[in-house]
Amino acid sequence: MTQKITAAITAVGGFVPEDKLTNADLEKIVDTNDEWIRSRTGIEERRILKGQKGTSDLIVPAVKQILEKRGITPDEIDALVIGTVTPDMMFPSTANMVCYKAGLKNAWGYDLLAACSGFLYALTTGAMMIESGRYKKVIVAGGDKMSSIVDYSDRTTCIIFGDGAGAVLLEANTEGYGVLDSILRSDGAGCAHLHMKAGGSLRPASAETVANKEHYIYQEGQPVFKAAVKGMADVSAELLERNKLTGADIAWLVPHQANKRIIDATADRMGLTHDKVMLNIMRYGNTTAGTIPLCLYDWESQLKKGDNIVLAAFGGGFTWGATLVKWGY
Ligand code: UT7
Repeated sequence: MTQKITAAITAVGGFVPEDKLTNADLEKIVDTNDEWIRSRTGIEERRILKGQKGTSDLIVPAVKQILEKRGITPDEIDALVIGTVTPDMMFPSTANMVCYKAGLKNAWGYDLLAACSGFLYALTTGAMMIESGRYKKVIVAGGDKMSSIVDYSDRTTCIIFGDGAGAVLLEANTEGYGVLDSILRSDGAGCAHLHMKAGGSLRPASAETVANKEHYIYQEGQPVFKAAVKGMADVSAELLERNKLTGADIAWLVPHQANKRIIDATADRMGLTHDKVMLNIMRYGNTTAGTIPLCLYDWESQLKKGDNIVLAAFGGGFTWGATLVKWGY
């Protein structure tokens, strides 16, 4: 009998730009204050990618780290899937450009748009490439240059977002490590509450769309918050139940970093103590598809072979989901 192939995570890379945007900096730009931002979101500072640079410039360093850590050459990578809502350009894909810039000569790839759930959607997709037996090494990345679509005169959104990216290497495994299960959901009714109005085929860029500030994130915080608390907690609890696990079996929750209050609610629902929850929102804010792989990157040295890890996200679309991973190294 052939053994089941799973997609094990065998290396992690991450990158945030050097420039910081602190709550004190934001106090000078919009009518807000450090106390409000910390208590409502948990954020203290974010990183900003300055200059004529795009999301590929965040992802390439993460990809290069992976190659170096794992001691493999760029031409060993078969495919690259990138979750992002801020591609370098509408086309070609950012994956196309990352393959080019990082020298992944034998890889093909594409961008996947699922906003804050982008990394989970991409991870599930990349895992299926490995599970099929067709590919041996697939890189899955999540990254966003959110500063490129943030309106820095809108205090309800500019305090939340930052720039950053992370990536993981997936390799075939027959010992039961890696991506074990995933529940992914979407509901287009949520579009009303979180979207970017213009720049797509529905409403192409024009002088009018620019004047109306339609190329920025539009978010109605409250309905998104309510849906996120329920969506992320429900799907995480369902994932545990489906895999006959309880909070006690989980070593780490790796939540999308949108709001500390949403994260706390999810941990509580899963019966997890807060010391098992990865939290770097204080330092990076919400980097959209970048948050989950950036957490894995920051916590890599604390992860142990065999740890059960739940990754969970909720974001624009609405899209949401939870993924169970058994750590492989
Ligand atoms: O990752 C993608 C998915 N996105 C999310 O998960 C985000 C979900 N939503 C949230 O995290 C929260 O809704 C926000 C952080 C966006 C807002 O927090 P909130 O506790 O829901 O605040 P609110 O929108 O209910 O606003 C409360 C008050 C309002 O003033 P009034 O009407 O009570 O006088 C706002 O105008 O806070 C005011 N406010 C601010 N005050 C200081 C809104 N933004 C700010 C600000 N500084 N930056």
